[in-house]
Amino acid sequence: MNITTADRDIECILYTEEEIKKRVSELGEELYDLYKDSVPVMACVLKGASVFYADLVRAYKGHMLFDFIGVSSYGSGTTSSGRINFKKDFDNDIKGKDVIIVEDIVDTGLTLKYLKELLKTREVKSVQTIALLNKYECHTEDLDTDMYGFRIENRFVVGYGLDYAGYYRNLPYIGVLKKEVYS
Ligand code: IMP
Repeated sequence: MNITTADRDIECILYTEEEIKKRVSELGEELYDLYKDSVPVMACVLKGASVFYADLVRAYKGHMLFDFIGVSSYGSGTTSSGRINFKKDFDNDIKGKDVIIVEDIVDTGLTLKYLKELLKTREVKSVQTIALLNKYECHTEDLDTDMYGFRIENRFVVGYGLDYAGYYRNLPYIGVLKKEVYS
């Protein structure tokens, strides 16, 4: 790991700060149209979705409740381990509530499938999932009902909350990481 500026390791920028801001604001409005008669629990999947979540909740103009859940499937590599590690449960009592799961990126879809199965056991009123990025070529699960910010090709991306081995989350844009950093 080269301790210089983080963006030297970026091959190209996929979405700039401005593009992300515009799209997140649209997503906030779309969600509000769906939930204006409810007070949903919006659950941020830690840690990757934290930056997206912070912007999305401010683009959502209705009442909502904060929550944070801890799940990971990647460890410190660049491909899914295929196993889900459940680290932190909901703080709210979600029984009978509308729950919105906020993810950073959907790759195979295993994490979202796992969370939806978990919520079936919690007697929630409804479940909606929203992810900023959708690696549409990589899905192994059926994810038709979910909302997304952007569709991207199968490339390893970092920034705006997304990491490689814990780094690059603080970049304000989403960029493709240079292969030489991880190969
Ligand atoms: P899935 O369970 O295979 O859909 O993987 C979802 C999780 O993998 C995300 O929440 C991320 O933590 C991680 N992930 C997938 N693709 C990337 C990427 O390109 N960059 C950083 N993390 C990724």
